[in-house]
Amino acid sequence: MDNVGLPQAPKELSISSEKLSEFSSAPVRDIPEAVREQPLRKVNSRSRRSVTFLGLAGVGLLIAILLPFIWMQIQGDGFLADRIETSESAVSDAVTESGVTEPIVEPSPEPETTDSEASTQLFNHFSYEEAPAAELEPVSPDGNITLRRAAAEQFLAMVDAARADGVRISPLSGFRSLDQQESVFFDVKAARGQQATIRAEVSAPPGYSEHHTGYAIDVGDGYYPDADLRVSFESTPAYEWLQENAAYYSFELSFPEDNAQGVSYEPWHWRFVGDRHSLETFYRARTLTSESDEPNNP
Ligand code: DAL
Ligand code: ZN
Repeated sequence: MDNVGLPQAPKELSISSEKLSEFSSAPVRDIPEAVREQPLRKVNSRSRRSVTFLGLAGVGLLIAILLPFIWMQIQGDGFLADRIETSESAVSDAVTESGVTEPIVEPSPEPETTDSEASTQLFNHFSYEEAPAAELEPVSPDGNITLRRAAAEQFLAMVDAARADGVRISPLSGFRSLDQQESVFFDVKAARGQQATIRAEVSAPPGYSEHHTGYAIDVGDGYYPDADLRVSFESTPAYEWLQENAAYYSFELSFPEDNAQGVSYEPWHWRFVGDRHSLETFYRARTLTSESDEPNNP
């Protein structure tokens, strides 16, 4: 009745209860090698298959999750694209720095300084080129005193504004050619019996006067002509007005008291610095000179 309904074990696999009891009480060391190792191999194989299966399932799941994300990156929308771009530019920079290749972005060319623009210095004066005649405009009633167009326009506007305030600014000397400056420097020097260095304290040698540029002008007070080209001009209403207002018209005093250039004080000599060319004319002259003409220390 015990085995009713159960399949009968095949004969050759039937083990009596005595035999079974013998077998199970036998020490493990008595089990033949092949019998001991077989179950271990079976367990490992099953485990490896499980791990492989789980691994493949995991990779599949990971790919399924990442696929849309990877697709976005390939299309160039994501941070990977940015990272690729950044790293490419880093490589490009590195290559450029090593001098192997040209930069991808060409630097804008620096303005070249030609020999004729390079400034030299003589005594305390910088070299300047003559303004082209076609650029000059009259600023005096007789038309004999001229300035470059931009400077002339501002000077005349300044004179009008001063006149409206009851002050008369009169032009004395504007643009001067090299020939004119030759006479101003050497003829006066000879007439006074001066050394060149002494003459250069108050007058620039030809080729070195701001008056060549067409941006500089000597002015007087129309009501006080005795103060023309004298330091006493600083006490006139015209000078006082200029000090307060000249900058509104882009004029500045070239040689204030104790100026760094070392030229004697000239309260009557003003220069226009109201556009790029005039500004470069005066300020680049100093930079180039200080770069190229540094005195050698003994
Ligand atoms: N008086 C100034 C320095 C000139 O001659 O240019
Ligand atoms: Zn002057």
